[in-house]
Amino acid sequence: MNILVTGGVGYIGSHTAVKLIEAGHTPIVVDSLVNSNVESLARIEQITGTKQLFYKADLRDRDALDAIFSSNRLDAVIHFAGLKAVGESTEKPLYYYQNNLDSTLVLLDVMQAHAVKKLVFSSSATVYGSAPVPYVETYPAGQGITNPYGRTKYFVEEMMSDVAKSDDTLEFTSLRYFNPVGAHPSGLIGENPNGTPNNLMPYITQVAVGKRDKLGIFGDNYDTIDGTGVRDYIHVDDLAEGHLAALIHATPGYHTVNLGSGRGTSVLELVHAFEVAAGVTIPYKILPRRSGDLPAYYADASLAASRLNWRTTRTIEDACRDSWNWQSKNPEGYN
Ligand code: NAD
Ligand code: WQD
Repeated sequence: MNILVTGGVGYIGSHTAVKLIEAGHTPIVVDSLVNSNVESLARIEQITGTKQLFYKADLRDRDALDAIFSSNRLDAVIHFAGLKAVGESTEKPLYYYQNNLDSTLVLLDVMQAHAVKKLVFSSSATVYGSAPVPYVETYPAGQGITNPYGRTKYFVEEMMSDVAKSDDTLEFTSLRYFNPVGAHPSGLIGENPNGTPNNLMPYITQVAVGKRDKLGIFGDNYDTIDGTGVRDYIHVDDLAEGHLAALIHATPGYHTVNLGSGRGTSVLELVHAFEVAAGVTIPYKILPRRSGDLPAYYADASLAASRLNWRTTRTIEDACRDSWNWQSKNPEGYN
């Protein structure tokens, strides 16, 4: 298949492009580079021996997107492009709504104009808000989302659902990711956050490589195994394979599927797993709870198994080893 990969220069898109190429597909990447570095494309070429077609464009530029669809026979789209920093989204909500919603509206419109019917979207477990664990796809989404970023994910899901209802030949899937971590085992591609990392794993790896003094752990008095927050961490290569599965098993209609391991891991458990995998000590201090954080959540991963024939195969230890391999080989990321 010829697959348009929006946001394909970024963290999850670059890992998915590798899996697509290895499975014999042709990814065609469009990215504005607002949060990524083209060096990842050169690294993908190193891993796969294949050079990807790349367009530097903002998805909101309808003419540019239309030209890409006109000059390529596309079979499907995987839509990763979007801004993802939760804290920034509360400071700049309009920027988030404009970027994440307008880009998707233009994409849906151009797909319709060119009769491209298969779409896989990067949604997030954040659409569940606060709900009993494990999170199941049948739960109502959109309640209790605490930030504009999360609401953009929910709104895009609603847009896709409405569009799919208007044309029963469309095959639309929202993949609700839990917490992506890890890197390609080569150490050539990985997560490359700008500035201070918001997420736990890149913070840990930056402490390990000496860029930061110590990890701050946001709260140790939750009702969890050791008082720290619990999440469902998923290796980015498992996640990437989930996209391939979603394309292969696409069927008409609008579908939501969780991509998670189904297991919860606490912050301290992740820190200790990392220490073993990397052979380093991670100094930390306990800080107050971070506003908006939930105590614990993880996926019910059974729908992905039955519908997509997909399940995670990599462990937390694999993810820690691969994150460390990436960070230690690239202390400054792609810069
Ligand atoms: P990322 O920032 O590394 O990649 C996103 C890419 O989209 C970047 O390369 C960026 O330059 C590009 N982009 C943003 N707006 C664009 C626009 N208007 N036009 C063209 N390109 C644009 O992020 P990621 O971690 O790879 O996440 C990929 C997707 O998965 C995002 O939609 C994100 O919200 C979603 N997601 C991520 C996580 C996570 O923790 N990483 C969890 C759940 C969902
Ligand atoms: C994980 C755990 C923190 C950093 C976010 C988004 C979500 C999704 C994934 C996109 C929590 C603790 C973290 C630190 C810490 N993104 N932590 N010290 O908050 O589960 O999810 O990223 O869709 O929408 O909200 O991920 O990695 O920030 O936090 O103690 O420096 O680590 O409190 O328990 P989160 P995270």
